[in-house]
Amino acid sequence: MPIAGKFITFEGGEGAGKSTQLTRLAERLRTSGAGVLSLREPGGTPFGEKMRDVLKQPGSAIQPAAEALLFAACRAQLVTDVIAPALAAGQAVLCDRFIDSTVAYQSGGRGLERTLVESANRLACGAVRPDLTILLDLDPSRGLGRASVRDHGQPDRFEVLGADFHRKVRDLYHALAKEEPARFFVVDAARPPEEVEQEIWHEIARRFR
Ligand code: TMP
Repeated sequence: MPIAGKFITFEGGEGAGKSTQLTRLAERLRTSGAGVLSLREPGGTPFGEKMRDVLKQPGSAIQPAAEALLFAACRAQLVTDVIAPALAAGQAVLCDRFIDSTVAYQSGGRGLERTLVESANRLACGAVRPDLTILLDLDPSRGLGRASVRDHGQPDRFEVLGADFHRKVRDLYHALAKEEPARFFVVDAARPPEEVEQEIWHEIARRFR
């Protein structure tokens, strides 16, 4: 499968199953002989992993603009140190969250001006853009319930924000998918993981055959 040098991102709200589906896709691609690098945001570099703790800790008091810039800073580090070199070396890169998360959460959820958030993203990413973005779409009340079970009732700084915040995030994801239908593939994440996995695999085969 000619997937070398392709960049695929997974997006969606809390508990939508992004990490599970990313792991399953990576396994399938490796089995088919592809070189695959799996990453997550924020994270994937020593700096990004440190910031991940700060950004997710319920006690951290961080203003929305500072939050958006921290996510963008983590992304700048990850793009330069890891993603761009891996793509140039012909690996397929799968990333759990990327630019659309900052637009959906910090603009949609927090209410920051979208053009400003997008400028920070452009500064962070340069010419690196996803070839495909898989949006796992799920009603926030259901997703937050799943996340709560996963986290043993210990919500992080975003999960505590409640259904209203997460509905705004979902609305912005929908708007993004509508604006860029060629880049986005929207999957109904309420279905069993095996069905979601199969649907994603079909789309990968269709696009990168
Ligand atoms: P997760 O990877 O477990 O979903 O945790 C990351 C959290 O950070 C999640 O609640 C979404 C949030 N986030 C943003 O608000 N903006 C961003 O740009 C990114 C990458 C994540």
